[in-house]
Amino acid sequence: MRALRLPAGFEWGISTSAFQIEGASAADGRTPSVWDTFCAQPGRIAGGDRPDPGCDHYHRWKDDVDLLAGLGVDSYRFSVSWSRVLAGGRAANPRGFAFYDRLVDALLAAGIEPVVNLFHWDLPQDLQDAGGWRSRDTAYVFAEYAEKLATALADRVTRWSTMNEPFEHFGLGHVLGFHAPGQNLTGVAAFSVAHHLLLAHGLGVRAVRAGGARQVGLINSYAPVRPVNGGGDGAAACALDAIQNRLFTDPVLLGEYPAGLDAFEMDPASKPVRSGDLEIIAAPLDFLGVNYYNVLAVSAPEPADPLPFRLAELPGFDRTASGWPVVPDGMRETLVMLKDRYRDALPPLYVTETGAAYDEKPDADGFCDDFERVAFLASHVEAIAEAVASGVDVRGAMLWSLLDNFEWAEGFSQRFGLVHVDFQTAQRTPKASYYWYRDLIRGVTP
Ligand code: BGC
Repeated sequence: MRALRLPAGFEWGISTSAFQIEGASAADGRTPSVWDTFCAQPGRIAGGDRPDPGCDHYHRWKDDVDLLAGLGVDSYRFSVSWSRVLAGGRAANPRGFAFYDRLVDALLAAGIEPVVNLFHWDLPQDLQDAGGWRSRDTAYVFAEYAEKLATALADRVTRWSTMNEPFEHFGLGHVLGFHAPGQNLTGVAAFSVAHHLLLAHGLGVRAVRAGGARQVGLINSYAPVRPVNGGGDGAAACALDAIQNRLFTDPVLLGEYPAGLDAFEMDPASKPVRSGDLEIIAAPLDFLGVNYYNVLAVSAPEPADPLPFRLAELPGFDRTASGWPVVPDGMRETLVMLKDRYRDALPPLYVTETGAAYDEKPDADGFCDDFERVAFLASHVEAIAEAVASGVDVRGAMLWSLLDNFEWAEGFSQRFGLVHVDFQTAQRTPKASYYWYRDLIRGVTP
């Protein structure tokens, strides 16, 4: 790896999410989320995997704080299970709050800054039954949750994000139906989900600030889009760019919906948008979180295709175990794209996720040589440094993820952790990438 040139104080962190690691789905008064319901439906999750106990972080959190301390990260970003702290999404559950209280205190005692994300796709099932994100009320209930949580933790937690990757939750969960809640919405119904997620974000920003939070942001996923056949597929590339890269960013940073949503039969002038909503959605932010995994290639749709683009193979790149192309320069391109597109409206950036699935296992001596992940992470960190060198204000990088975990519809079949988890025993074994990252943080050039 080349010596990195990053500003002093550049923050190194790592991310997880509640549903992917906690297990303990019925412990201490936790109520079901849409993901519990979805996982119980036959055929939804690869191999029929069930998330509980999985990593069982709810019971093994002390071990995980020790792993974080050994890694030497400056910050740890985790999400809170709404269904754990508020039964049914509304009624305070003191035992749920106590779990995050203990976690935050232990992190601080270990010298690690806790960074709290409020929503990583696990809507309480009771709220889904009341209409989910198609209902405007859900955005207001989210704001109540946000304020309650900030009131409980903001004395010790400085940095908050309202939600992680609303685009994936919208697209995979509500349009394509591959994720919970497994819906296949189109037109105004689909658009109402996107708008209510954005409204929840804006109301959530106000609410966490009212609860005492000092820094608030949003975490989005971004992917440069490449037309496979050059100009001929340009319209398809623009359509995917509008929805993947702009739908959840333009309203937040510019106070307006992007052009091009009509290709999806989504109309920003339609009923879900009420006067004043965009002002709420565009509440000023202290940071934008950027999740980057790969570049997307598209071709023009076939006449029978439901979407105005067709995803295509990007030839000429190595692939991870998820089949995703490894394109480190897409990280630099994404960060520069955000700076060029939003200019003065862009708050400071943090890379809040990047990582890769590979299938390595510990050998007889317990050594897990995930050299491919090390190469992936090193090249993506170098790409962040290149973006910083070209003037993008990136304050830190958080890798995905601490542990092998429940990879949504892929179950346990895809491992993104710097720490291997044996899902029979929940035993944790740091991989070579864990030691590589520890040395990078310590300033040891590999
Ligand atoms: C999500 C994570 C997920 C990761 C790898 C991101 O889209 O925020 O929850 O595990 O990608 O697929």
